[in-house]
Amino acid sequence: MDKFNIAIDGPGAAGKSTVARLVAKQLGFIYVDTGAMYRAVTWKALQTGLSPDRPEELARMAAALRIELHPGEHAQQVLLDGYDVTDVIRSVAVTQHVSAVAAIPEIRRLLVAKQQEMARSKGVVMDGRDIGTHVLPDAELKIFLTASVKERAERRYMEMKAKNEDVTLEQVEKEIAERDRMDEQRAASPLVQAEDAILLDTSGMSVSEVAERILSLAKSAAGKGIR
Ligand code: CDP
Repeated sequence: MDKFNIAIDGPGAAGKSTVARLVAKQLGFIYVDTGAMYRAVTWKALQTGLSPDRPEELARMAAALRIELHPGEHAQQVLLDGYDVTDVIRSVAVTQHVSAVAAIPEIRRLLVAKQQEMARSKGVVMDGRDIGTHVLPDAELKIFLTASVKERAERRYMEMKAKNEDVTLEQVEKEIAERDRMDEQRAASPLVQAEDAILLDTSGMSVSEVAERILSLAKSAAGKGIR
């Protein structure tokens, strides 16, 4: 199959990363988790005590960071200036602050440029919030993945419990709903379904069912002469 780009967008905990990684593996494409990049910047901001109400300093700090994404067996490995931040960027503190950092236009400009560079040679499955609308508006296949807030909260709660995190289902549901609201309402490239994206409601579907569905859409996109 010729190389092409796949954009997968959608709200928090819709299963984008798991599914995108599977699809990329099956196609021999590169998986890019853009949320991990916003999380890495947020983690660094928390480490250095910079808050989102100091956008210029934050942007200067972010511009100097070296963010590397490497394929891993279970998750994408994230290196920040050579330091492995894969696990710490999933912490409750980072999750609570990431949407405020991601709303800063200068931070978005920086990260979007990096993401576009990663996808330049094609053969990328990229997941995020604005991939189909802003980062890769010419992606050959665009998917908007969603599920009910209740189901997304249940999935994230199970993941967090497996990591022994001390949270309740209610807290997770509240956090997800709040992040949805911030991501949808921000001025700079908000979370919205691209006009030409295919909507996939994954409520009640397993990860492999969703991946199979996207793979079959990818095959038919490829069959239409995409290269
Ligand atoms: O995995 P989860 O659904 O919790 O979120 P994520 O993909 O790791 O993204 C974390 C946050 O980064 C989102 O809530 C957005 O605020 C921001 N983000 C964004 O603004 N644009 C992207 N392309 C990806 C993530």
